[in-house]
Amino acid sequence: MAEVYEGALDRGLEGVVACTTGISSIVDATLCYRGYTIEDLAANSTYEEVVFLLWNNRFPKKDEFTQFVKDLRQECVLPAEFMSLLKSLPYQGVHPMTWMETATSLLSHFDKESQDSSDEANMRKAIRLTAKMPLLVSALECIRNGKDPKAVNPEKSIAWNFLYTLTGQEPDPEAVKVFDTCLILHADHELNCSAFSARVVASSLSDVYSAVVSGIAALKGPLHGGANEQVMRMLTNIGTVEKATEWVKEALANKEKIMGFGHRVYKNGDPRAKILRSMSESLTKKAGHPEWYDMSKVIDDTVQSEKGLLPNVDFYSATTYYSLGIPIDLFTPIFAAARVSGWLAHILEQWQNNRIYRPRGKWNGNEGLKYSPIESR
Ligand code: ACO
Repeated sequence: MAEVYEGALDRGLEGVVACTTGISSIVDATLCYRGYTIEDLAANSTYEEVVFLLWNNRFPKKDEFTQFVKDLRQECVLPAEFMSLLKSLPYQGVHPMTWMETATSLLSHFDKESQDSSDEANMRKAIRLTAKMPLLVSALECIRNGKDPKAVNPEKSIAWNFLYTLTGQEPDPEAVKVFDTCLILHADHELNCSAFSARVVASSLSDVYSAVVSGIAALKGPLHGGANEQVMRMLTNIGTVEKATEWVKEALANKEKIMGFGHRVYKNGDPRAKILRSMSESLTKKAGHPEWYDMSKVIDDTVQSEKGLLPNVDFYSATTYYSLGIPIDLFTPIFAAARVSGWLAHILEQWQNNRIYRPRGKWNGNEGLKYSPIESR
């Protein structure tokens, strides 16, 4: 008889505490990074400052921040040889998140420190990845439109340079502020699927790039970061505000999941969704398409009244990104370009007190079988 492991089974690890962490916490409907609420950070900080906070467990002093920003901006470049390899990759029919996995892994081929696991080298790699991943997203957009990405402006923020390299136009200040807030809101989220995946890979003492690529792979799925793209596809499929209520009721009656709703941890609402909702409302109006927000609000009200589910981070980020003119299939890559800062914080934290992740599976297969030659089966 096979050994049957008798430990408790938690499908989806719902009731399992897998590590200690001091990066971000969720208590009821309050999300904090390093002890600061997300509302405080979104209103008062910048993405660069939040990245420093996530990695260092404190805000930077003025001189430190100047140096940190300088280090990040120096890495805001994709090497020419790397770019020509990127251009040679097929992209038709390839999901941009698959492309992001490949491109991020390819970056490690151009990093002389990719296999150096010292703390100093790991921090430099963290800076490199945080600076370069948004540029990977805009590089894809340029490549598939037959354009060369513009060089970044070293005086400007990651948010400004992302919008600039994506569109080739200097972005307006409100768009930059909104996008910077989106980067902050997406930077980390406790032990979610992709952070856990990155930590699992890191726990085998693999390298920073490999752990980040596993985070991208996990985020791709529609039950996780991939939901923001699916939300916008749902809205465009529904088409008009008038059709929204009926559409939702029918989908729920058919036991379909409405993308952008529900959460494993938040049962009383996702605080990020509230901030994104108000940005979505003002941006859709400004873009001359308030119907996207109106339709979202009808869906939100209907899902709440019919199913008692509240929107998560992905629901209103969809119309926010859409109003900024970002192509729908780049929504999840943008999420990855922001979340990389959180994955890196988790990878570095994992290595401070590492033990390899190795849970057990509860056996439910056959037992006691004997091999029989292929002729006699
Ligand atoms: N639409 C309709 N019903 C839902 C939804 C939804 N969006 N979310 C949960 N439910 C229902 C389930 O069908 C299930 O019902 P049942 O008990 O009748 O079978 C019940 O609520 C519990 O849901 P689970 O899927 O078991 O919850 P779980 O904690 O495993 O999953 C998840 C959480 C993945 C977020 C889920 O709510 C979902 O699939 N939402 C849609 C996808 C999505 O928006 N993902 C982004 C999450 S945020 C992020 O990762 C960045």
